[in-house]
Amino acid sequence: MNDIVVGNITLEQKDDVRRRSALLSYWVGAEYRGRGIATHAVKEITRIAFGDLNLHRVYAKIHATNGASIKVLENAGYAHEGTFKDAVFKNGVFLDQVLYAKVDFGTVDSEVKPCLQMQDSSSM
Ligand SMILES: CC(C)(COP(=O)(O)OP(=O)(O)OC[C@H]1O[C@@H](n2cnc3c(N)ncnc32)[C@H](O)[C@@H]1OP(=O)(O)O)[C@@H](O)C(=O)NCCC(=O)NCCS
Repeated sequence: MNDIVVGNITLEQKDDVRRRSALLSYWVGAEYRGRGIATHAVKEITRIAFGDLNLHRVYAKIHATNGASIKVLENAGYAHEGTFKDAVFKNGVFLDQVLYAKVDFGTVDSEVKPCLQMQDSSSM
């Protein structure tokens, strides 16, 4: 499959107080589905998100009827955090949307430490 575009995957980094979070979106062309491409891509971009990009949380919002996408996220270690009832109006019907996320709970880094230091000094 060299030099062929089989799909797309994006991370949309949020700003201000949500700057350590990013919204994940992806698709795979119909003729390339069922080969593990999305699962591989989600695992890889999540590794990059928590590594080079220094993100703390990656999340995706999926139509509740999208079983394949939910499976991709679960296989990549994402957890179901909630359901938005009737959040989507598509083809004349309301659909639930599910929120899946993966959080790098192990991270305590240079951007977090100054806050901890401020708390320490204010309590003295
Ligand atoms: C969702 C999508 C990205 C999956 O791509 P893919 O490359 O076929 O995914 P993978 O092959 O890595 O994995 C698909 C998994 O879903 C499972 N699956 C497929 N159809 C399913 C269904 N109807 N219900 C439940 N699971 C299903 C497969 O068995 C596989 O799981 P497994 O590896 O445990 O067997 C692709 O179908 C797509 O582009 N859909 C349209 C766009 C979209 O929905 N994007 C996600 C929203 S951001």
